[in-house]
Amino acid sequence: MSVARMLTGDRPTGRLHLGHYVGSIANRVRLHQRYESFFIIADLHMLTTRNSREDVGRVSGNARDMVTDILSAGVDPARATFYLQSAIPEVGDLNTLLQNLVTVPRLERVPSLKDMARDAGKEEMPYGLLGYPVLQAADILCVKGRVVPVGKDNAAHVEVTREIARRFNHLYGEVFPVPELIPAETPTLVGTDGQGKMSKSRGNSILLSDDPAAVRRKVMSMYTDPNRVRADVPGTVEGNPVFAYHDVFNPDRARVDELKQRYRAGRVGDVEVKEQLVAAVNRFLDPIRERRAEIEADRGLVDQLIVDGTERTRREVHQTLVEVRRAMGLTGAYQQLRRRAERARRTAATAV
Ligand code: TRP
Repeated sequence: MSVARMLTGDRPTGRLHLGHYVGSIANRVRLHQRYESFFIIADLHMLTTRNSREDVGRVSGNARDMVTDILSAGVDPARATFYLQSAIPEVGDLNTLLQNLVTVPRLERVPSLKDMARDAGKEEMPYGLLGYPVLQAADILCVKGRVVPVGKDNAAHVEVTREIARRFNHLYGEVFPVPELIPAETPTLVGTDGQGKMSKSRGNSILLSDDPAAVRRKVMSMYTDPNRVRADVPGTVEGNPVFAYHDVFNPDRARVDELKQRYRAGRVGDVEVKEQLVAAVNRFLDPIRERRAEIEADRGLVDQLIVDGTERTRREVHQTLVEVRRAMGLTGAYQQLRRRAERARRTAATAV
């Protein structure tokens, strides 16, 4: 038996931040040891909300930055295949075929799509954006992925993928494994401003590539308990982003518990709590920084990795599409036409 496959990835819109790490990268680092791993650079998905020439022009640079971030976070390049979605036309072919296995009302019930449309300032839902989960199903199924570690906002897309896989197998025979969602182990990370999830466009993110000074600046200006005007006023720990980050990034549980106690009692200042967080986040990022320095010293490494991965994935996807067409009977349809045409030609030739 071959090793089961994992597929996940991101739209190439920029550098990855701590929210990405918590929501999905941490799982990738853990799981890529166990599964044969594919990481998609989903530029076709990016087009569903950002499709200007400028956006497209940034894809190759963003792809390189993003893969550098993922490798720095601890994914071993020898154990992972990175590929650029738009360089594999068969992904679009499969998308076309899968579109008939899901209904419009089903897609209209996917909550993330409305959020994405709103965030992109779209008054009406673009057709491509409605089809976002179907394209994602094509990504997952074209490499026959079995496990998909993604953040909460992508859970519904994996559910749609499972439905499409079952539907396909039911109609045409067992071709696809029904993939399994692997959820994040940590709840969604709030932004430094305490206003919803961490997101680069909202300017409330700490990047995996931030240097120690940037981390200090961002943490020291973090939103805390707004009612706490002085260090001797008892503070609220629940829902306080500074403590949420301590919970995730500070491995010294005893120290965090002690800080929480003193905070609740009004016996520690916000500055001290933040200083401790600066140290914890920098300790968390230090090994990532070290790996980044190594990767960046090897010029061309990441670009070559994406090119090799894309070639390899293209061959895999081609095989899947051959199988899909055969299962659906599409191969047979064209073969019949060719056979009939050929027969007619021969008959005509002998009649002369
Ligand atoms: N939808 C993912 C995102 O939010 C990107 C993506 C595209 C993806 N295709 C995928 C994730 C397949 C997992 C599996 O950016």
